[in-house]
Amino acid sequence: MSTTRMLFLSFALTALLLGCKASPETATTSTSTTTTSSSSTTTSTTTTSTAPPAFPSIPPVVISGNIPTTVPIPPNPPPNATSEQFRPYFDWFSWESFIALNWPASGVGRGNPDQPNNPSVFTSMTNTTPVTWGTYKANWELFDQYDKRPTPWNDYNSPYAPALCPQAKQTDKQLLMVTKGDTELSDVNQAFSFPLVDQSSNYVYFEVRYNEQQYNWIRGADNTPATWLYLMKNLPPGTVVSLPPNPRNPADSIMIKAAWRSLGGTQNTSGLQDKLRQRYYTVNAWVYNSQTQQCTQQLMGLVGFHIAQKTSLFTEWVWSTFEQVDNVPPKVDNVPSSFNNGTDNPSTGTQGFANRPTYTAPGQLPPTPTPTQVTRLNPMPTTPPGASTVDVNNTFHAALPKNSIWQYYQLVTTQWPTNPSQFKAPANRGVYPQDCGGAFPVNGAVNTALETYFQSSQLAVGAFGNSCMSCHYNAGTGLRDFSWGLARRPHQDAPPPSTSKMKATAQTAAK
Ligand code: HEC
Repeated sequence: MSTTRMLFLSFALTALLLGCKASPETATTSTSTTTTSSSSTTTSTTTTSTAPPAFPSIPPVVISGNIPTTVPIPPNPPPNATSEQFRPYFDWFSWESFIALNWPASGVGRGNPDQPNNPSVFTSMTNTTPVTWGTYKANWELFDQYDKRPTPWNDYNSPYAPALCPQAKQTDKQLLMVTKGDTELSDVNQAFSFPLVDQSSNYVYFEVRYNEQQYNWIRGADNTPATWLYLMKNLPPGTVVSLPPNPRNPADSIMIKAAWRSLGGTQNTSGLQDKLRQRYYTVNAWVYNSQTQQCTQQLMGLVGFHIAQKTSLFTEWVWSTFEQVDNVPPKVDNVPSSFNNGTDNPSTGTQGFANRPTYTAPGQLPPTPTPTQVTRLNPMPTTPPGASTVDVNNTFHAALPKNSIWQYYQLVTTQWPTNPSQFKAPANRGVYPQDCGGAFPVNGAVNTALETYFQSSQLAVGAFGNSCMSCHYNAGTGLRDFSWGLARRPHQDAPPPSTSKMKATAQTAAK
């Protein structure tokens, strides 16, 4: 950890811990308009000659491969501070997590950054360097192993592997989902939703990954089968799951969801114009086509990136979402948008989209679909003045080298619980946003590539609303700790059904 960050974090941490020790409730505030703070401490914690930074302000950028675990909220914010004024501290946390997760992977084990304290490792990476989060466990490595144990964290073996892309090596990325609603092995629709089609008539693909803490918690202990939460029998209705940090494991759970578009061809072959391809973080992935039932290796460009991190203070998680800057208008550098034809025809009206594909069973998707027309319905926050999400993006871009691939990615929004101690599950008549930790912003927190069809609050009513927290709060009626994966994917303790697209591999883990 860099010295700057360490000082910074220890400062914030000291303040927060002091607040916590004084009384556990001091991590929260009582009114719904203010956010978590540690204003209770009256002892002076530091003696420094420099004046405290203005409030609100953007904390200094740190180029580090260490994922932050604390939101650097100043120790003595004004008593009447609004949630909006706390936004830059959460946006900073989002960007620092984004940098650490996209830090070059060490290549040893899984989830390990290469030289996390050496900024030049990050600033000199290219748009094909393998990244840390890419070595996290994919959802199917955890939830689709049926009567076998999912393998230990560092292992790339799977007792069952997707039968869809037999050519794929264990460490190759396989992209199989085009939706968030169906099984990850035949998905082309978004969460409870429809597929997204780019301007080249290619479907966008999604993947979900879990960090070590979350993976291990759901995998459970080898010798305690009742802790194996990937099995339905261990999650009867009414059981409450609390992912780490929890009383038995203080480390943060992190879950990732990413969206990719095809850039045409593979590395170094034709496809999207070379100049445009240089604007994406890319990976050569095995992509499953449900019409031809074939996998082809394609160069895929990252277009959307969700991070949810559960921290010890923010137990309803901190929700961050990033996009590639060319997704939708306004154009940057006059480059065409991935999901918009550059005209108002078709008009996206009050929904933020037009030409939504029809919902079809996997395998029956039209091979050359009409491109979806998308606009951003919920603007990126422009408040608080001078320290808004837009300003935080500018600050991080300015701190990165001009040729960094991450210049082409922007934070769209961060959503967080302002009053984390106030949680009551929907199953127990909890009501959003107040019983969901006082979510802020209350709505309109979505990604144009991942929640294209849930941008408008009216259209998202049936799907629990147009924000990360309103929707994830309902995972397992609030009993699955905001993880839709944990709510939807646990299975029977039996061999895969004959319809499963998972097949036994040579290496089988002991049950
Ligand atoms: C309308 C509902 C909805 C909204 C809004 C939504 N999500 Fe999700 N999200 C889902 C569903 C459904 C899944 C799929 C889980 C699965 O089936 O594996 C999912 C998956 C995820 C995952 C993968 C891990 C897991 O177990 O849930 C992450 C991370 C995530 N979403 C983050 C976000 C963020 C960040 C936002 C806001 C910017 C957001 N989501 C908005 C419904 C939603």
